[in-house]
Amino acid sequence: MRVVIVKDYEQMSRTAALLIAKQLRSKPSSVLGFATGSTPLGTYKELIRMHRREGLDFSHARTFNLDEYFRLDPSHPQSYHTFMFENLFNKINVNPDRISIPDGMTEDVENFCADYERRIKQAGGLDLQLLGIGRDGHVGFNEPGSSLGSRTRLKTLAEETVRDNARFFKDKKEVPRLAITMGVGTILEARQLVMLASGEGKADAVKRSIEGPVTAQVTASALQLHPSVTVVADEGAASLLMHRRYYVYVEKMAEKYEADVGI
Ligand code: F6R
Repeated sequence: MRVVIVKDYEQMSRTAALLIAKQLRSKPSSVLGFATGSTPLGTYKELIRMHRREGLDFSHARTFNLDEYFRLDPSHPQSYHTFMFENLFNKINVNPDRISIPDGMTEDVENFCADYERRIKQAGGLDLQLLGIGRDGHVGFNEPGSSLGSRTRLKTLAEETVRDNARFFKDKKEVPRLAITMGVGTILEARQLVMLASGEGKADAVKRSIEGPVTAQVTASALQLHPSVTVVADEGAASLLMHRRYYVYVEKMAEKYEADVGI
């Protein structure tokens, strides 16, 4: 696991965007997995900038989003559909036919989820999945107790997550309690994972996921089982890491020898 500790949110965003751009440039038809929430917003801004200024081309890419609220219409201002189109898809040249976001309005959840998994496979699997992390250590909406082998399915959000998400809703009663999310097993099948964390509020979750035991109680800890993970954390999010200095040293060595010595 590569742990990149950067100064602040801007550097985290820039680092993540560079990793995504590298993937896309090496394989223009990449299958990219995207996340929502506050954390990746800066990354998306930087990708938009790279598209406009540096010609980063998304026209051959396919995208799959991690999750979507259940029973929230895609046109709702807080749906993850709206989020993705407003903050990224409308501003880059991705083909709308190649965008997949779970359908929170589906009448047949089980079939929808099985089909979502099938579509990811048919696309050749995810080349790179971008992840945020919840304060309870969730990735996607795989809340504590989610099976580490779980697949795309309907999940009940933890109270803490509902409270955290309430900041985006005018009427607190509107905050969804359920979401369709890729499972931990689905996420682990991506060829490359990039997890972002910013701010001290995430420090405990980051510590438990990187340096704690692998446990379904902290689903981000399952990333320890994956051969190609980069965690990009700012100073605040990395502040509780025991081996912080070593991670910084590894990155310096990687720079010096121009090699991936940390993975
Ligand atoms: C969003 C998602 C969630 C968020 C997490 C952190 O698609 O899957 O796991 O990444 O809840 O959210 P923020 O970034 O808002 O702190």
